[in-house]
Amino acid sequence: MSENVIELVNVRRYYIVGDFCVKALDGVSCSIRKGSFTAIMGPSGSGKSTMMNLIGCLDTPTSGFIKIGGEYTNNLNEKELADIRNRRVGFVFQQFNLLGKQNALENVMTPLLYAGVSGRERRERAEALLERVGLKDRMKHLPSELSGGQKQRVAIARALVNNPDILLADEPTGALDSKTGDQIMELFQDINDEGRTVVFVTHDRGLGMRCKDQIYIHDGKIVEGY
Ligand SMILES: Nc1ncnc2c1ncn2[C@@H]1O[C@H](COP(=O)(O)OP(=O)(O)OP(=O)(O)O)[C@@H](O)[C@H]1O
Ligand SMILES: [Mg+2]
Repeated sequence: MSENVIELVNVRRYYIVGDFCVKALDGVSCSIRKGSFTAIMGPSGSGKSTMMNLIGCLDTPTSGFIKIGGEYTNNLNEKELADIRNRRVGFVFQQFNLLGKQNALENVMTPLLYAGVSGRERRERAEALLERVGLKDRMKHLPSELSGGQKQRVAIARALVNNPDILLADEPTGALDSKTGDQIMELFQDINDEGRTVVFVTHDRGLGMRCKDQIYIHDGKIVEGY
């Protein structure tokens, strides 16, 4: 039996908007195995991003428990949570979220600055990752000088630079054409083959069906398929 690297136990995330309560997640329990490649699917507004943000410790649940690497996150202090965010989890977003005034190399180096890594090592690690994602000849380009697929490759290199064991990607191919999206999925597959746990959100059933593990969400609840 392989171990679970992520566990959610009866997780709720409610948002109060005026006198209305939005039940973005409403009692979700699930486990994600170490080294697995999991697709989270469901219609718009079903709670997928909410779930990803909770897994990545960018947000905390209204109730319920989340375990990362066997540890309950609600027992952790701010510093320990920041440590999970910085070292255990890499994030990739639909809109890339690159810093527009920094070139590809600087974008990838930035998380290492916060991790206190020396200048030389920052550069070496960032260069190696950009080469790894096929952007050896684009290191000095600004995001505005890159294609969508290239921007997403920079974002993936940045997500990997602290060597996380979990990679979370929220609609990583949503802003790309299908061919470019397929290439990005191949890159995620390689990253998974290295032993990292990959969890990604997609609207695209075809993409999701290719994954061995799938989680379907509907109206904040896990359902058997949709
Ligand atoms: N900060 C917030 N305040 C209030 N309601 C929110 C907030 N964030 C999300 N919601 C609501 O929670 C529900 C789930 O949102 P979420 O972003 O998780 O959906 P999603 O499945 O990622 O959708 P999409 O596929 O469109 O990205 C939605 O009804 C949304 O309106
Ligand atoms: Mg979303």
